[in-house]
Amino acid sequence: MLVTMSGQELSKFCFGTMQFGHGSTYDQSGSVYTECRQSNINHFDTAHTYTGGLSETWLGEFLKGEREQIFVSSKVGYTGGSAPKNLSAQLSESRKRLKQDTIDLLYLHRFDPDTPLEKTLTWFSEQLEKKTIRYCGVSNFAAWQITKAEFIAQNLGLKISAAQPMYSLVKRQAEVEIFPACQDLNIECFSYSPLGAGLLTGKYQKQTQNGRLANDARYAKRYGNLEMHKTATALNKLSNQYSVDPATLAVAWIAKSKYQPVPIVSARNTKQLTPVLNALNFDMSDELFDEINNLAPKPAPATDRLEEQV
Ligand SMILES: NC(=O)c1ccc[n+]([C@@H]2O[C@H](COP(=O)([O-])OP(=O)(O)OC[C@H]3O[C@@H](n4cnc5c(N)ncnc54)[C@H](OP(=O)(O)O)[C@@H]3O)[C@@H](O)[C@H]2O)c1
Repeated sequence: MLVTMSGQELSKFCFGTMQFGHGSTYDQSGSVYTECRQSNINHFDTAHTYTGGLSETWLGEFLKGEREQIFVSSKVGYTGGSAPKNLSAQLSESRKRLKQDTIDLLYLHRFDPDTPLEKTLTWFSEQLEKKTIRYCGVSNFAAWQITKAEFIAQNLGLKISAAQPMYSLVKRQAEVEIFPACQDLNIECFSYSPLGAGLLTGKYQKQTQNGRLANDARYAKRYGNLEMHKTATALNKLSNQYSVDPATLAVAWIAKSKYQPVPIVSARNTKQLTPVLNALNFDMSDELFDEINNLAPKPAPATDRLEEQV
């Protein structure tokens, strides 16, 4: 189990700061941080690559004075590959921006096919020894890559403590192999984009089309499938029926799902944040869970033997 420096358990949700400095001003980001703390969130996620360093810098400022109570995860290797020289340069910069000697959890941001995992994981092992990080994680890895990394890590006396895949009602691939692999290997899952980058708030079903999917071609493509938009429309309808915000339902559904990954939630301002945080205390009935679960197709099992799917 991952814990803060002061030994506390991590909160039920993590807050992701990818919007700090892009879409969220300094004041808005500070208010969002304060509201998360008031809701007892103690886990914040950032990355070397986010917003030219503002995400890490602002997070470092906001958590000043309560460092030991906060669990900070960051990521390196999104750009420049996962060879030790690049990772060292990025980690050094991240620690300076965050004004921290130690980052609690450091993820490799994505798999690099051009660098042997042995090299990268030896580097992680050295960082743990030097106490520049407390835990090692991987993000955007396929299940086979996670498994391979864990076995290499074991030979180095290292543990892959966490994985960070994408997961939401409209992105369910992780259910097939990533979550079961992580459960089997005792790797904690912190899953990102619980609202499908905003799609599941229902706002793209209305006239106002202001948000990431309208402004960012990469995200528009990621969520461009018509079926995903149909799911968002259906979730919105259900939310009207139950008088609960669709963002609350989308996040609470993850928290109640079979493998119960920790959702990495996010919002650009406190208005957006309120329905997201409401999911913390939303007691979803089994019936409502099933209704939401049936709004999106379940991915086929890894064997493709549909008749054996439970
Ligand atoms: N490892 C990785 O590769 C990776 C990738 C992505 C994210 N992450 C992490 O996961 C965190 C969360 O990811 P995400 O931002 O994609 O999560 P998300 O929860 O799927 O999307 C959050 C976005 O949805 C919109 N939104 C949120 N609440 C809303 C509301 N009530 N009404 C209307 N719109 C609302 C906002 O964007 P707009 O207002 O702009 O629409 C907000 O920034 C990130 O901060 C980051 O830490 C990691």
